[in-house]
Amino acid sequence: MTAKRECIVSGMRPTGPLHLGHHFGVLANWIELQEKHDCLFFVADWHALTTEYATPQKIKGFVPGLVLDWVAAGLDPEKCIIFQQSQVKEHAELHLLLSMLTPISWLERNPTYKDVAQELSGQKDLATYGFLGYPVLMAADIILYRSTAVPVGQDQLPHMELTREIARRFNFLYCPENAPFFPEPRALLTQDAKLPGLDGRKMSKSYGNSISLGEPLESIAPKVKTMLTDKNRLRRNDPGDPDVCNLFPYHKSLTSPEKCAEIRESCKNASWGCVDCKKLLMESLAAFLEPIHERRRKLEADPERIWHILEQGNARARKRAAENMEAIRKVLNLDF
Ligand code: TRP
Repeated sequence: MTAKRECIVSGMRPTGPLHLGHHFGVLANWIELQEKHDCLFFVADWHALTTEYATPQKIKGFVPGLVLDWVAAGLDPEKCIIFQQSQVKEHAELHLLLSMLTPISWLERNPTYKDVAQELSGQKDLATYGFLGYPVLMAADIILYRSTAVPVGQDQLPHMELTREIARRFNFLYCPENAPFFPEPRALLTQDAKLPGLDGRKMSKSYGNSISLGEPLESIAPKVKTMLTDKNRLRRNDPGDPDVCNLFPYHKSLTSPEKCAEIRESCKNASWGCVDCKKLLMESLAAFLEPIHERRRKLEADPERIWHILEQGNARARKRAAENMEAIRKVLNLDF
């Protein structure tokens, strides 16, 4: 076995089925990283509670589904640790300790906090202690394992900045300058351009413009047919521009680079139309989703399997968390 280089941690909130946007935004990155690194991936159920605290039963239902989505997509419990945040209590202990040293002003000026609070205002009361502290819990998730890199989407960058600031403050307060306890972890973004929704907006289940990873091809086909393309290409003979087309990013993610070059040419010189392009996209989607659906069917045939994966992952994460937590308590003079 080759030595795994970095400790990598990331999580997702269990808020519903994953779609292609999640896959190409984050999950594909996880699947690649598990091959070469020491990876821990977790279900951030406590984080889901920051906005869904009034309906916790909803979160419970989404936990096994999220793990099923991950494993069907190719996350392998033999290659990485898959666990559930609320089952490793050290996350809560470290969150509490970090909350002592995190200035409120850092949290209040966090742009993600302001955006989400505004987006959901009117629907939910998010003027809570827990919601403000969201990034403190996230920092705890990450530095608990003394990880150095975190694969996340673009929207999480402000949280990553806060994580580094919190780690730095801990080191500054409690460690000699030449011996920091926590590394300052960096964000790992996917190189791929973002996959837009079917209508060109951000892909989101709530906009009804997404394709979920478990979706049957029969339900995807009509959606692809109505996808927005280059708005200026009105007639079949008009030349198109793949760079403003909403469909082309899908080919970039799903179709081979050689084929993409061909598509680009054929679109620009109008030698083929959007209908042809959509047909080819359907083929690429089928090729991509087939193995995922196949693994999903197998997993669904054995419902205990997902819980078993989580149980084993929880135990492995707990062991790592307990060891590090002991060292953290020592640094803080809490080792009684
Ligand atoms: N905030 C992340 C999201 O909404 C989820 C998350 C919680 C996370 N804790 C984390 C991601 C730690 C990376 C590392 O997507």
